[in-house]
Amino acid sequence: MNPEEIRKEFPIFSERPELVYLDSAATSQKPGTVIEKISSFYSSKNANVGRGLYRLAGEATVEYQRARSEVADFIGAESDEVIFLRNTTEATNLLASSLDLDGDIVLSEMAHHSEQLPWRRKAEREGLEIKYIPTKDKKLDMEAAKDIIDEDTALVSISHISNVFGVENPVEELADIAHENDALISVDGAQSVPRKPVDVKDMDVDFLSFSGHKMLAPNGIGCLYGRKDILKDMEPYQVGGGMIRTVKKDEVEWEEVPEKFEAGTPNVAGAVGLAEAISYLDEIGMDEVYRHDRELAEKARSELENIQGVDVLAPKDEEISVVSFTMNFAHPHDIAEILNQENVAVRAGHHCAQPQMEKIGISGTTRVSPYIYNTEEDISKFIEAVKKVKSVFG
Ligand code: ALA
Repeated sequence: MNPEEIRKEFPIFSERPELVYLDSAATSQKPGTVIEKISSFYSSKNANVGRGLYRLAGEATVEYQRARSEVADFIGAESDEVIFLRNTTEATNLLASSLDLDGDIVLSEMAHHSEQLPWRRKAEREGLEIKYIPTKDKKLDMEAAKDIIDEDTALVSISHISNVFGVENPVEELADIAHENDALISVDGAQSVPRKPVDVKDMDVDFLSFSGHKMLAPNGIGCLYGRKDILKDMEPYQVGGGMIRTVKKDEVEWEEVPEKFEAGTPNVAGAVGLAEAISYLDEIGMDEVYRHDRELAEKARSELENIQGVDVLAPKDEEISVVSFTMNFAHPHDIAEILNQENVAVRAGHHCAQPQMEKIGISGTTRVSPYIYNTEEDISKFIEAVKKVKSVFG
């Protein structure tokens, strides 16, 4: 892959040639092909789906279903195992409200708030216990995980790649441990599905959630993958139009999955945009995307480690995809502000992982998250800007 060429296909970089965008873990930029696809859907294919009998409605429905099957192929699932919804947060809320659990819920200390809070609320309401797998040296403590996941566990919910440390969690191993204990496993793929090849059957996970906006697609479209036999037995998340087969005054029959979980008019253009984003990523190849992002993250990490007073929050022995760091002389918000003055966009703060921040005794970090349109030059500009922070505060 050639990031210099890829960059030219993203209109934002022509509009803002000075921009060094290193906040793709928060949201990605969009290629012209995705923007045009959404525009052309509204110009020539727009109608409600699954309802109208006229040709245009039929064409819109075909586009929507095609998008579902392309998303399913991308993650190794069947079409009817993919539910479209807004984002990873909504996927976890759906699961936590619809899945019947009889036992403990195991989370990790590094979990994003969107992965923790829906389960915590469920536990409070239903009297279930939450247990946390601790982090040790910025990665999951797998020895502790083996003790914590036991025959009382009903569900393990884990992020695939941490949005704070950039470290990858061993989901296959965790899936084995969960299943040996007759528990389910749900994976937050918000940071992994955009960055690496992901196959739900190879990983043997029961659920996987992710957001389109972090992988070149528009805001407001995301997915929940669920094993069909489990989805079939789950109650709908929301009720209303489009998710029923028949409604009588005293009786309702739900649609099959996935429609059962998609009440109301769905985000059709978003789904079509997501499918286009997936074609774009497939064209590059997810192995290449993975290699590229890690290479840039490792470059940032090693150059940061050469600056005195900078602490990179990552395991020593593992490659990472996003890089969080602190500087002992400046607050993350001050660092981000000086980087901003140099046109370098990064995220600073607690990254929606306050319990993890509390555990390591800091209020926040500055985070760099490269993606396919970033070049080595971007990382060099970022490092120069960090040196400027040091010259101001250090
Ligand atoms: N979850 C996103 C992040 O980590 C918003 O920045």
